[in-house]
Amino acid sequence: MNWFRTQSHGLIWLIVAFAIISCSEDKVGELPADVGLKDYYAPEFLIGAALNRRQITGESTEQMDLIAREYNSYTAENDMKSMHIHPSRDEYNFDVPDKLFELAEKNGAKVHGHTLIWHSQLSRFIREIEDPDEMRQTLTDHINTIAGRYAGRIDSWDVVNEAVEGDGSLRESVFYKVLGEDYLTLAFDLAAAADPTADLYYNDYSMTGEAKRNGVIRMVKKIQENGAKIDGIGMQAHWHLETPTLEEIETSILEYAALGVKIAITELDIDVLPNPRNVSGADIGQRAELSDEINPYKEGLPESVNEALARRYEDIFRLFKKHEDLISRVTFWGVNDGNSWKNNFPVRGRTNYPLLFDRNNKPKKAYHQVLQVKSGV
Ligand code: G3I
Repeated sequence: MNWFRTQSHGLIWLIVAFAIISCSEDKVGELPADVGLKDYYAPEFLIGAALNRRQITGESTEQMDLIAREYNSYTAENDMKSMHIHPSRDEYNFDVPDKLFELAEKNGAKVHGHTLIWHSQLSRFIREIEDPDEMRQTLTDHINTIAGRYAGRIDSWDVVNEAVEGDGSLRESVFYKVLGEDYLTLAFDLAAAADPTADLYYNDYSMTGEAKRNGVIRMVKKIQENGAKIDGIGMQAHWHLETPTLEEIETSILEYAALGVKIAITELDIDVLPNPRNVSGADIGQRAELSDEINPYKEGLPESVNEALARRYEDIFRLFKKHEDLISRVTFWGVNDGNSWKNNFPVRGRTNYPLLFDRNNKPKKAYHQVLQVKSGV
């Protein structure tokens, strides 16, 4: 058995090595059929993607091969959030999440669950709870039912999402208002009891800002001191061409990892458009009006910007590779530029180019640069 494992592992590496050698820049559109980012980065970390409903159910026929080839960790972009999976007290919708597991199992990919406790896209009945006992019971039912259903099949969960504000204080979500900060430890305890094998993460955006970083570190230490199991911190990477700096990203990875937890780079995309009102992160309250001035690439991405995007992706993957021992997974927030939420945030209706695949599912220069970090070609 061990002999067989060693041999098949060796064979996969032979294929990957061959792919690396034969993949020069002008051939990036013709990659070997079954080898993708997930294979190149297999020694370092998982390569994930958020999948929308059409992708999960296989309706996006033109993307299914790409998804199978490139990623070995899938996250539902929306369908496992409470408003979809648990819309009212006695109603759970598992159809689409179940399909996500079927797809992942068919493709040999893992599933990362997003998300058990989040103030946004929250079912109305939870949003309206005022009584602490009712809230505790509801969180217990919610986590037991959802995490319990996928126990043993899921790799990891975002147990709590976006609980910290930019200044480092705890967000005054309905959970905080009704239960105080105890809801954080409760959520991790419930998730660990419902599924002792899944890795449990705290996930948030703007994680490179100093004040927020200190707040997250304070919060995670408290959860640890309370004896709860917390395995990782997810740094949502809704970043821009110039910001955050590599130094800020690296400092944050190191400081979070010093808590003794794994680091996942989650929700990676790089916004190439002008940034009205200097929006960072993913605070959906920060919207701006559409105008031609802030939507300059409607007809296509100029080569200079395409190259800047490729360099930015190369730089951040070099950094991720440098810290491969700390990083468990890098997940892109979407598959191709056309699917990305960044076409609608912080301005609705723009044409953005934040991912590695274009609107026709062709790999962009950025894809090649990310491969180059591994291959040196
Ligand atoms: O499902 C409806 C559809 O029926 C309707 O026709 C359509 C019209 O606009 O809207 C659809 O719902 C949209 C939904 O995405 C599914 O596409 C919502 O309007 C839209 O607000 C929602 O946006 C999602 C956003 O979370 C909501 O907060 C994005 O797709 C999703 O990428 C985004 O993901 C979040 C992470 O969960 C947490 N971190 C930040 C990240 C970006 O905001």
